[in-house]
Order: sequence, then C-alpha cells, then structure tokens
Amino acid sequence: MSTAPVRVSVRREIAGADIADIAGRFGTPVYVYDADTIRRRCRDLAAWDTVRFAQKACSNLAVLALVRRAGVLVDAVSTGEIHRALAAGYAPHAAPGAAGPQDLPPAHPIVYTADIFDRDSLDAVVRHGIHVNCGSADMLEQLAARMPGASVTLRVNPGFGHGHSQKTNTGGEGSKHGIWHEDIPEVLRRAEWAGLSVSGLHMHIGSGTDLAHLAEVAGALERVAREIGRSLTTISAGGGLPVPYKPGEEHADLGGYFALWDATRKTLEADFGHRIRLEIEPGRYLTAESGFVVTEVRAVKRQGGRKYVLVDAGFNTLARPVLYGSYHPMSLCPADGHASPEPEEVAVGGPLCESGDIFTQADGGFVATRSLPAAQVGDLLVIEVAGAYGFVMASNYNSKPLPAEVLVDGGTARLVRARQTPEDLTRGETV
Ligand code: LLP
Repeated sequence: MSTAPVRVSVRREIAGADIADIAGRFGTPVYVYDADTIRRRCRDLAAWDTVRFAQKACSNLAVLALVRRAGVLVDAVSTGEIHRALAAGYAPHAAPGAAGPQDLPPAHPIVYTADIFDRDSLDAVVRHGIHVNCGSADMLEQLAARMPGASVTLRVNPGFGHGHSQKTNTGGEGSKHGIWHEDIPEVLRRAEWAGLSVSGLHMHIGSGTDLAHLAEVAGALERVAREIGRSLTTISAGGGLPVPYKPGEEHADLGGYFALWDATRKTLEADFGHRIRLEIEPGRYLTAESGFVVTEVRAVKRQGGRKYVLVDAGFNTLARPVLYGSYHPMSLCPADGHASPEPEEVAVGGPLCESGDIFTQADGGFVATRSLPAAQVGDLLVIEVAGAYGFVMASNYNSKPLPAEVLVDGGTARLVRARQTPEDLTRGETV
C-alpha cells in the first residue's frame, strides 16, 4: 500500500546550497535548516503583538538567535531552555517600566511555561527574574515563597483539546496540562493569598491541530478572562498552528485566525478599559518547513515482495514516524553519474536494531511504502519538513552520536552544531 500519490522527487540543493557538498563537508546524517524559510514564517505572523517561539520545536542557538533578530520572543520549558534563550541573546525580563508600542504592556522576552517547577528550574526562574506561566496551582505557592509579589500567567486547560496525535492533545481530561478551567475561582484565591497578581492568560490545546479546533479556544479564553478580570494585560492563543506535510495539504488561513483573536482581544479591552497584548506561541510553524535530514543510502534489499532502502539515519535521528506514524516527504539526491531514476515503491528504514526503525510507517507501527526514485547505495536521501521536533527529539539509542546541524543562509552552509563523537557518548561514565 502506498502512503502518498506518486511523486518522483529529486532534490540537489537546499536553499541554494549543494546537498552533496553539505554531506561531503559535514557527514551524514545531518540536519540542514534554511534561514530564509524561518524568517518568512516569522514574518507571516507579524500581525500578532508578540510571536513567542516554542523553542522545544528546534532549540539550536543559531536558530534562536535568528528568530530573535526577526523580532520573535521565546518560551522555555526547562532550565536548559532558559539557558539556551539567554545564550542566544534574549534578556531575562523586560526593562522595568518599559511600555510597548501603543501603550501595550511590556512583553516578557522569556516565559517559563510548565506544569511543575523542578528544583533547578525554580532556582533559574528566581535567579534571572523570568516570568512564569503556571500550569498547576501548586506552582503559585512555590513561586511566591521565592519571588514575593510576582505577576504570573495562568495556563488554563479549557476542557477540550486536539492534536495530530492523541499524544499531542493537551486539553481535556485526558491531558495533564494546564489548570482545569472550573478551578479558576479557587486558583485565583490561592494566587491572591500567596500575594501574586495574575497578568496573563494562556491556552494551548494541542500540537498539529487545525484551525477549526483552534478557533474554539478564543471563546473559552474570553470566558476565563472575565473570571480573572482587570488584572489581565496579556492573552496567549498558544501554539498548534499546522503546517503541510503530505502532498495536497495547504497552509492555514492565518489572516482569519488572527482576526478571530483580535476580536476577542478587543472585546476584553473594551470590558477592562485598558490595552491587552495578544500573543501566539508557535513551534512547528516557524521551523518545520525549514528543516531537512540529509542521510546516505547504505543498503537496498528485498524482503519477499517488499523493497527496503536503508539509510544511515534512524529513529535516533528523527523520532516522529516511530512515535506518531508521522508522514515526512522525501526526495533523493542521486550520487554523481547516477541519472534521475524511475520511481518505485519502497519502505525506508534506518540502522537501528529495532523493527520500528522505519520512516515510512503508519500510526500503529505498520510498515508502509513510498514512491521514490530508485535509489542506489551512495545516493543521499533527504527527509523533508523535519525542522520541528526533529533534532530536539533525537537520541543516543544504539550509542549513535547526535547528528550535526547546519544552517544555510544566503546560499552558504555553516555548521551550527558539531556531530557528537564516540568520546561524547561515554563522557561522565565510569567503569
Ligand atoms: N506552547 C505549548 C505550551 C506547548 O506545549 C507546545 C508544544 C507549543 C506551544 C508549540 O506547539 P506547536 O506550535 O509546535 O504545535 N513532538 C510532537 C509535538 C509536541 C508538542 C509539545 N508542545 C511532534 O513531533 O509533533
């Protein structure tokens, strides 16, 4: 069974940089990001007062610095992500008394969003004075004890959610995320008792959802905002913006989505009598399409009636297919002298000692096939739309080093993270 319409895809360059040259210089497998695509995706969202990058999607320092220069702020979910944001040049907090344009309240350059503080993240938030988006009421007292009088954002679970997979649905009873919407009165009492003010309200119902589901959030947020009242100065629509992965999928209508949220913001501004900052918090949207995994074909073989192309990247490199049955487009960069070949149906797998190490699989782990130009050992296979939740979810399974990361800007490819070495793999271990 084919998972996609026939698509003979040969690709020899990424944003003007020669793929064979990248593989020769940096080795394979390698993540390659196109800086211009990231910049374009940042510009797409310019209508929003704040675009806050959910860096969990792609947190390489060069990518963070690039989105920072494009005017995008950042979300952090761990001490490590706070460290990355600071290292990429983000200020820990807004300058005291700073107002945004048109009397908007100042934006927090970094927001820590989580359902818990582990001990080191609480230390980091306090040490740097970072604004917190609380997904559990227990965080309120823990923060108040260390940062008396702080203002916080509440992440509220509106009682419904949706994602591309049940594993990425972050709303409703089936999700651990956020403060349950019915608990708001009690949570507000706890915040007041702890001496914290609630300046922000945030909802994120899931990742890889669609605009129809996302649109339901605006109404739910408006209801909760009224319960919180005039202390609110910022509302966040969360992330979840979809991107096209499969042939035939299209970009969402961002203009319509912004208009919906802008109307919600204006209603609340009229009710509260002051300006409200409107934030969006995309991860996937900003980086997915910019990213490619370049990998080398190392074996081509037949198992009964099925043909397998085995490459040097596995689910240690890109985990989304094995985790969610996710579809990633693929193309072939034939080695020198190997003409553009005819398409054939193949399953594509990696080097790991586990049968799930297949890039062409459907949800449930069933091996599927893809129509690809006939590949030979030495060709490069390019896995596309891999710039979000790609490298960041890579692992050292089977003691495989993490791949290198390369940024292409102005046609020039630059190494932005060195490939791990075998020595890196055993660092910190003792015999
Ligand atoms: N805000 C919060 C609080 C989040 O938890 C997330 C994603 C985002 C924003 C960004 O969502 P996005 O715009 O990227 O959909 N590993 C999965 C995705 C997990 C998303 C986790 N949270 C995947 O590969 O599809």
